[in-house]
Amino acid sequence: MTTTSAPRLEEITPRTFEAATGIKVRPEQEFAVSPVMQSLAEAYVRPAGVAWPRLIVDGDRPVGFLMAFFDIDWKEDGTLFRSGLWRLNIAAEEQGKGYGRFAVQSVAAEIRRRRGKELYVTWHAGPNGPENFYLGLGFRPNGETSEGEIVGVLELS
Ligand SMILES: CC(C)(COP(=O)(O)OP(=O)(O)OC[C@H]1O[C@@H](n2cnc3c(N)ncnc32)[C@H](O)[C@@H]1OP(=O)(O)O)[C@@H](O)C(=O)NCCC(=O)NCCS
Repeated sequence: MTTTSAPRLEEITPRTFEAATGIKVRPEQEFAVSPVMQSLAEAYVRPAGVAWPRLIVDGDRPVGFLMAFFDIDWKEDGTLFRSGLWRLNIAAEEQGKGYGRFAVQSVAAEIRRRRGKELYVTWHAGPNGPENFYLGLGFRPNGETSEGEIVGVLELS
């Protein structure tokens, strides 16, 4: 099911901070994604420009949170740089309305704008995890794992 309204992304500022940290996924999904508060803390300790956290808003409703990464030093040895979606939390009561798809499309657009050609994501396997969501959007496992998670990639070109 898709929503007929027009969601948008907003930066995390003192105005949007509480709405962002108030986004909660379903309890059985908590194994699959970090709480927003932890993601924002991780963004803070990364070099400027690497993490791209955004609140997903529809009308006046905060409906989700995403955090993208751009040109991250994937192997931490300076040989491989990748961009993608680091975190995605759609509020429990707002799932199934197209906001997750919107989040992926928004990150894809931002990577394209920066002349990137691939969108990476990692996911936990498991019945309550997001694997089929990502596969349905065209992501394909590339055969790698990262910290126990499956690495998937969406070709943007
Ligand atoms: C996975 C998640 C992001 C999906 O967000 P969502 O807003 O419910 O997804 P959408 O409504 O945009 O769905 C887009 C499509 O994916 C499908 N889809 C969504 N979740 C799915 C799932 N778990 N399994 C199979 N298909 C799924 C939808 O049916 C829809 O397909 P359609 O267009 O053919 O109808 C959301 O459930 C979530 O936040 N989960 C908990 C946290 C998590 O796992 N985050 C990812 C960490 S990497």
